[in-house]
Amino acid sequence: MKVSWAAAVLSAIAGIPLTHACAHDHAQRDFTPEELAELERKWGMEWSFTGISTFAHLPYTKCLTTPSTLFDIAILGAPFDTAVSYRPGARFGPRAIRAASARQTSFRGFNPRAGMNPYSNWATILDCGDIPITPVDNAVALQQMTAAFEELGNRPAVRADKVKIITLGGDHSLALPALRALRGIYGRPLRVLHFDAHLDTWHPEKYPSAWPSEQSHFTHGSMFWLAGSEGLISNSSSSPPSVHAGLRTRLSGDDWADHEDDTAQNWVRISADDIDDLGTRGVIKAINEAFGDSEDPVYLSVDIDVLDPAFAPGTGTPEPGGWTTRELIRILRGIDGLNLVGADVVEVAPAYQGAGEETALAGAQVVYEILTSMVKRGMGDLGRIREGEKVVEKDEL
Ligand SMILES: *[C@@H]1O[C@H](CO)[C@@H](O)[C@H](O)[C@H]1NC(C)=O
Repeated sequence: MKVSWAAAVLSAIAGIPLTHACAHDHAQRDFTPEELAELERKWGMEWSFTGISTFAHLPYTKCLTTPSTLFDIAILGAPFDTAVSYRPGARFGPRAIRAASARQTSFRGFNPRAGMNPYSNWATILDCGDIPITPVDNAVALQQMTAAFEELGNRPAVRADKVKIITLGGDHSLALPALRALRGIYGRPLRVLHFDAHLDTWHPEKYPSAWPSEQSHFTHGSMFWLAGSEGLISNSSSSPPSVHAGLRTRLSGDDWADHEDDTAQNWVRISADDIDDLGTRGVIKAINEAFGDSEDPVYLSVDIDVLDPAFAPGTGTPEPGGWTTRELIRILRGIDGLNLVGADVVEVAPAYQGAGEETALAGAQVVYEILTSMVKRGMGDLGRIREGEKVVEKDEL
């Protein structure tokens, strides 16, 4: 027992036995289950605005340093923004999205658009904290992110077949290390569903410089070109395509070369303006038709700049003329049949958002919709898997 000098003096003066004078004793005695239950009853509840900020008040574990912690779905922060071409600040995206998710709780988490509560269903969902990524060496940053996605992505799941990671960006370049890890885990190229104002399939030479370097190829506008050239994405016209949705970027030069390059990399494009002619239903139909009924593993990448700057000004490369938050949510709900194996929500840069946190709120809502889709689809997957062994009612899962 450690006894403070003051306690020892007090004991000597007042003749109080040391064991009684020692404040540490309180912590050392055994508390009865009844006492603990009473404390929990009185103080266990959290308001949406109390507590340390994790995504949706989920339990927090720094999963990278605790390999014994298992989960089905992880929320993982990648606070990295030194591969951006315009406004920096997305390194604060994970914090902002977590803070903006405060009104999501398992208690009030039922998603009426989907008819289920992702937080109280079969899946163990954790906030795995952040990858500590260096802001001063992008080659090392790329290695760190790749290693972190491999480390967590290969961890055995609690109930699912494989774990899934939803990454909070961070700038969009993090999709390259995420796809590198997933390519290894699934043993085949992925297909990508990419919501963005921009193509992000730009050849690194579309950023010309008198000072070229290999390292400068890794940016938030070229990572899908890099991923295609590494064979991480289905990259030939004979394989099923990946899909961009919400495009409205200006293109390089005087012609359609950027689109031709993008087509050559096996991408299909849905523009922001298409929603005027097709409606959200038509956009959903176009996406689902591109993916067909396939069970192909799909990586879902949501750049928050797919939204109009009216709805999401807090981002690095804003482009006027985008979708509303409601339209994006509606479209995400319509594609919940896809076999999502990983996802990101990137480019939330809170320094440029309004006082009402609209951009981070949109990011947190997108994460909630993705979680809903993953858990909902998993109910079917688990049901099917279980039926093969013994019949288990879905509501027991
Ligand atoms: C497709 O990926 C392979 C690696 O699997 C690579 O060798 C090839 O160059 C890629 N093709 C394109 C057009 O990027």
